[in-house]
Amino acid sequence: MVKEQRVPCEQPKHRLQSLRHIGPTNCLTLALLNLSIACIDSGFRYDRPSTVNDQSATDATSRSDKPTGERKSNENSAFWWGVATSAYQVEDFGPGDVGEYQTDWDVHYQRGKLEHARGHGCWSYSQVERDLNALEALGVTHYRFSLEWARIEPAPGEYNEAALQHYVDLTKALRARGITPVLTIWHFTFPSWLYDADVDRHGWLHPMAAERWQAFLDYVVPRLTPHVQTFAPLNEPNAYALACLVNQFPPGGRLSYRRYLKTMDAEVARFIDAARVIRQYRPDARIISVQNIIDWQRAPLDLFDFWYRKGQEYNFYHLDQVADHCDWIGFNFYFAETASPLALLMQQQRDGDDVSDLGWKIAPGGFERRITELYQRYRKPLVITENGLADADDDQRARFLVEHITALQRAMAAGADVRGYFHWSLMDNYEWAHGYTMKFGLYEVDQATKALKPRASARVFKMLRGLFTPDGQLDRIPAVIP
Ligand code: FCB
Repeated sequence: MVKEQRVPCEQPKHRLQSLRHIGPTNCLTLALLNLSIACIDSGFRYDRPSTVNDQSATDATSRSDKPTGERKSNENSAFWWGVATSAYQVEDFGPGDVGEYQTDWDVHYQRGKLEHARGHGCWSYSQVERDLNALEALGVTHYRFSLEWARIEPAPGEYNEAALQHYVDLTKALRARGITPVLTIWHFTFPSWLYDADVDRHGWLHPMAAERWQAFLDYVVPRLTPHVQTFAPLNEPNAYALACLVNQFPPGGRLSYRRYLKTMDAEVARFIDAARVIRQYRPDARIISVQNIIDWQRAPLDLFDFWYRKGQEYNFYHLDQVADHCDWIGFNFYFAETASPLALLMQQQRDGDDVSDLGWKIAPGGFERRITELYQRYRKPLVITENGLADADDDQRARFLVEHITALQRAMAAGADVRGYFHWSLMDNYEWAHGYTMKFGLYEVDQATKALKPRASARVFKMLRGLFTPDGQLDRIPAVIP
């Protein structure tokens, strides 16, 4: 197992807004203020490194887990066109496992820390054929989904073989339909046995976490590598760490900048653990580091760009440390935001055509800017692993799609190496602290029949795929904005 080590990275950052979807803005604002004090106190400074390839800071493993560069395979021949989900957000209990496992989110809810229960999910565990049909109807080439660790390992060291087999079967069923699986191993939830009421010992900070993660990888990875080439070990570790700072993941406790740093460092080590195990079983694996990147805008009164630089720290702190351990960079993009606590405080109050139902500023220009920035900073292939919006009326999504794909095309035409686009999400799902109130789906879920019903924008999504040539260029710019 990789020995966890403190990585001497340049500083902290805070991850602001996208965290808004998991918690009250006032908490976040407090966190930012807290963070600013902590940063000032400790003299932290974050400048963009001239290079991110300094292996010395991060190499807790042998060189064998290093990416070997892009490899030739059929999967590289075309632009990836996909949708993304995560297990906890869409799955129901499976036959025989009701009550047999719990995640930390279930415990948070039971303890009154969350307003919305996950409940039945969207039945994606029991309705596999339904989902496959929906994917096929969208014309996707790839599907990004995640494992539920708690389901596979309901008690420490006790594995549910049927649960793992379910995921193996899903990868095979996707391939049988010509859809390539992209597997996220951890997407925000832990088994309840990594829950601890003391937030400084919860999740990645739990005394058993490193050892159990390694054992979990040893159990699941060899079963999946015959069917999966592309893995995202962790979803948005930067977002999760900020959630820890503001006590949203897990909820409760006092703000702690130290906890934030410890979580970051643990996540770096866990990512490297996963990369090593995956490459051990599949040397040609493609490993993606998935980050939530926000298009920060400088606030007029942001003296010395303090808040802007905090925002950039949020974007890059984790990635700088794992860039040498991944093949591609996964970019989750949702919005632009003014880098200031006040702007964040006001976010939920926003309304209008240029913001989503969550008050997130729709910013295709920011998308283009950040693609270019990411590519210039790391010089690695990029894949858009999430992009979407909460839009219950479906009166913004089509335009959002067209504008973001057009922006993507501009960034690619200017030289950015982008290999694919995944929309969030296949269907409306459990949006963390917002429960089912925020509608991110290309499909609605009929609660009575469990059927998936395509929104009008799903047709636009499908149509846009047809605009890419096989080598990944967009050969026509959509002229009509629906
Ligand atoms: C991302 C998360 C995903 C979903 C979207 C809206 O940050 O990765 O699970 O909640 O936001």
